[in-house]
Amino acid sequence: MAIERTLTILKPDCVRKELIGEVTRRIQDAGFKILAMKLTRLTKDTAGGFYAVHKERPFFDELVEFMSSGACVPMVLEKENAITDFRTLIGATNPVEAEPGTIRADFADSVGENIIHGSDSVENGKIEAAYFFTESEIVANQA
Ligand code: RTP
Ligand code: MG
Repeated sequence: MAIERTLTILKPDCVRKELIGEVTRRIQDAGFKILAMKLTRLTKDTAGGFYAVHKERPFFDELVEFMSSGACVPMVLEKENAITDFRTLIGATNPVEAEPGTIRADFADSVGENIIHGSDSVENGKIEAAYFFTESEIVANQA
């Protein structure tokens, strides 16, 4: 299996619930290396740009509203098989369908407010990482 990178966002509900530490602990315990992270707040424009693929979907306005409603924490993560393994760690989009013990099953309130994002492919992970971080902010080859 190849070493891959994924882009995650601890969403505004995660920050509001003061779960940054707990969720980050789970990510690190699962073997992901943090190559970049920051606390930031998206505008409606930046949130809409990030989720542009969903702009025709009925939930788009609600998604943009929520993602710009407070601070969030984007991170670039690295691990073998990172894309699939991270989606497994966070669980299904709708927390009632998420496997017990996943981050969304344990912490999310609803499909709209589901604590955390994970890239759905290596290609999209690269695009998403570049949306938040410059090359020099992604710290590779950590000792
Ligand atoms: P994400 O991109 O945030 O990791 O979530 P995902 O891949 O599991 O799900 P995706 O289909 O990409 O949807 C993006 C986000 O839109 C919100 N959503 N709301 N109300 C709804 O029916 C609905 N469906 C999706 C969720 O917050 C989802 O994470
Ligand atoms: Mg998605």
